[in-house]
Amino acid sequence: MTAEQIARYVVAEAVWAPSVNNTQPWRFVTGGEPASQPGSQQISLHADTGRRLAVADPDGRELMISCGAALFNVRLALRSMGYVPETSVLPDPGQPTLVARVTWRERAVSDEFERRLFSQIRKRRTHRGAFDPEPLPPDLLAALRGSAARDGAALRIVADDGRRAALAAAVETAEHQLRQDGERLRELARWTPAPGCACRDGVPPTSYPARAEHTDPDFPGRDFARGHGWGMPPLSSATSIRAAGVAGLLTTIADRPADWVNAGQALQRILLTASASGAAVALHSQPLELPWLREFIRTQLSDGAYPHLVLRIGMVIQMAVSVRRDPGDVLFVPGGDHADLSRR
Ligand SMILES: Cc1cc2nc3c(=O)[nH]c(=O)nc-3n(C[C@H](O)[C@H](O)[C@H](O)COP(=O)(O)O)c2cc1C
Repeated sequence: MTAEQIARYVVAEAVWAPSVNNTQPWRFVTGGEPASQPGSQQISLHADTGRRLAVADPDGRELMISCGAALFNVRLALRSMGYVPETSVLPDPGQPTLVARVTWRERAVSDEFERRLFSQIRKRRTHRGAFDPEPLPPDLLAALRGSAARDGAALRIVADDGRRAALAAAVETAEHQLRQDGERLRELARWTPAPGCACRDGVPPTSYPARAEHTDPDFPGRDFARGHGWGMPPLSSATSIRAAGVAGLLTTIADRPADWVNAGQALQRILLTASASGAAVALHSQPLELPWLREFIRTQLSDGAYPHLVLRIGMVIQMAVSVRRDPGDVLFVPGGDHADLSRR
């Protein structure tokens, strides 16, 4: 297959990565043979900074995490084709938006675990709300911790009741503050389309519950409906006990752009590993978008490591439907229609 054919296959999977507010802040460029590696093919992943959340994410940390998740999908898709990807994160200091360059030449058959993760890329959905009281499969948490470590990040389970309550309170405080901030609300509105919108990005009402599902302790979700009453009706009217799930923090030791990309790769490995075991994950980045709360979590709940996301992991039947842009809109082929990145 040509590099372009492989890139089309890879990008069709990469776009199903999670991204903050489903901004999908990425572009891919297929390349010819890299001069330093004759016989190899390559694809590069660029951050689309026009899709950065200027108010919520001024440093582009969440943008880079989102790109890191897409990078993990690129690697996994190449493995599914039997290629061995070689990845260079932020390879060119002169091009800070060039997130990664991935090359391939060698071949090796993918293993059973890689195939299981790959099969979850399109099925996995971000969960929003409570979980069923069912326990997680044994060994899943250990597997998720191992997943994070493989990409240079850590998943810290916050099991102690007091610390878990403090983490929930941080989410609640942040959500309360964000709802009072006009600038942030206007930014959120840009990424929260109304029902029936043909939009291919943003968080659609088919992906969150119409009524907030409270848990104890409560980890409030983002206010995607913004008072419009949008969202999915509850699955049943039964008032079964609903759980918050196992709470955790995704962290890295340092806080540079390369750490953010690695956190994104670790995030996607965690999400796909959980999904392959029938578990779902809810994500809360609200307190990490407020510097003082991020610092509180770092110093009080994550032993000084830099927190990137609050995760809740649990069992639940999911009905959420999300959307993505057409892969052809984010793949640039030299000499093709979209070859000149600067024109878009
Ligand atoms: C860096 C980052 C931060 C996120 N923060 C939140 C959040 O605070 N609340 C939430 O419900 N989802 C959050 N998400 C999940 C995205 O909203 C979700 O990935 C996107 O809407 C696409 O939906 P999907 O994951 O179901 O495919 C976050 C994802 C990323 C990568």
